[in-house]
Amino acid sequence: MGVRMKGLVLSGGRGTRLRPLTHTAAKQLVPVGNRPILFHVLDNLKDAGIEQVGIVISPETGNAVREAVGLGQLWGMKVEYILQNDPLGLAHAVKIAQPYLESDSFVMYLGDNLIGSGIGKYREKFELLGADASILLKEVDNPSSFGIAEIDHDQRVIRLVEKPKQPKSNLALVGIYFFTGQIHKAINIISPSWRGELEITDAIQALLDAGGKVLSDRIDAWWLDTGKKDDLLTANTVVLDEWVKRRIDGEVDAQSQVTGRVQLGYGSRVVNSTVRGPAVIGENVLVENSFVGPFTSIGNGCRIVSSVLEHCVLLESARIEHVDRLEDSLIGKNSVVLRNHEIHQAYRLMIGDDSEVLL
Ligand code: DAU
Repeated sequence: MGVRMKGLVLSGGRGTRLRPLTHTAAKQLVPVGNRPILFHVLDNLKDAGIEQVGIVISPETGNAVREAVGLGQLWGMKVEYILQNDPLGLAHAVKIAQPYLESDSFVMYLGDNLIGSGIGKYREKFELLGADASILLKEVDNPSSFGIAEIDHDQRVIRLVEKPKQPKSNLALVGIYFFTGQIHKAINIISPSWRGELEITDAIQALLDAGGKVLSDRIDAWWLDTGKKDDLLTANTVVLDEWVKRRIDGEVDAQSQVTGRVQLGYGSRVVNSTVRGPAVIGENVLVENSFVGPFTSIGNGCRIVSSVLEHCVLLESARIEHVDRLEDSLIGKNSVVLRNHEIHQAYRLMIGDDSEVLL
């Protein structure tokens, strides 16, 4: 691969759509297949030959991000942090990162985006063709929720609009962009959008208007923007389906069955239970008298007793006991779901702000 290219990962913002989970945690740290989304992002940058990464963080969740990623030792990359005091837009994040980026080319990667392929081939094409920017596109069903590109018959980008009310195409901008230092000039001439943000979409449009060369590529692989609960469960399903290999480090007793592609972490125990893959169970988890069905991710320290789970994501130290059947659910850290199996008359709940309970 060509000259040095930096990575810029956006891990700030507010993450309102995943509340209540993201009241206390960064949405980029919510796990998919038991690994934070951000880790999948860094894997992809590393695989594309990126060695230096700046991570944009917010005052609220920045420390949690720093703790999880550290200096990037896990990836053998050099990671630095850039504090964005307010989430004033993706182009604003690039603006404050300019002292870090200098005039180098860089790939900007939104920390809540997951794609099912590497990005190395897009990097190579961007460098080979000497473009000023390169964007990735994917057809979507709800174009009003994304940045949208209009392209001509030769795949040339004509116009870009952020979350259009009347979209002219269904080609969404994926949250992975390649830029040369030219983007900084474009960012300097744009103004905030109706939502008060400096939009990267507007900056790329400004680059086009100034005669810049902007390439586009349609991606064939799946792409998930993990902003909402259902997106997150879908992401979990896809990641477990494609990436999990069987590995049993914990203990399985003689009365239990663990079938298919299952990962069971150190210190975890499966007692008189069935676990059917694809599923990932972290460390120090107890699964007792239970059934854990396909497409379930269980974080470290969870406890599942006399329950049936399928297609669920449980964050660290959650406890599920005597629950007949739990499906399509996302359970936050240290949460407890217990059914009183002796008395059937009443539910007794203690639910935090912004929670959702379907009985
Ligand atoms: O996911 C793809 C979409 O991402 C594109 O199609 C859109 O054109 C693009 O504007 C963006 O839209 P979103 O509304 O989904 O962006 P969101 O506000 O969710 O921010 C994306 C990531 O960037 C998220 O991890 C938080 C981070 N962020 C966001 C803002 C606004 C920052 O670090 N700083 C910010 O100021």
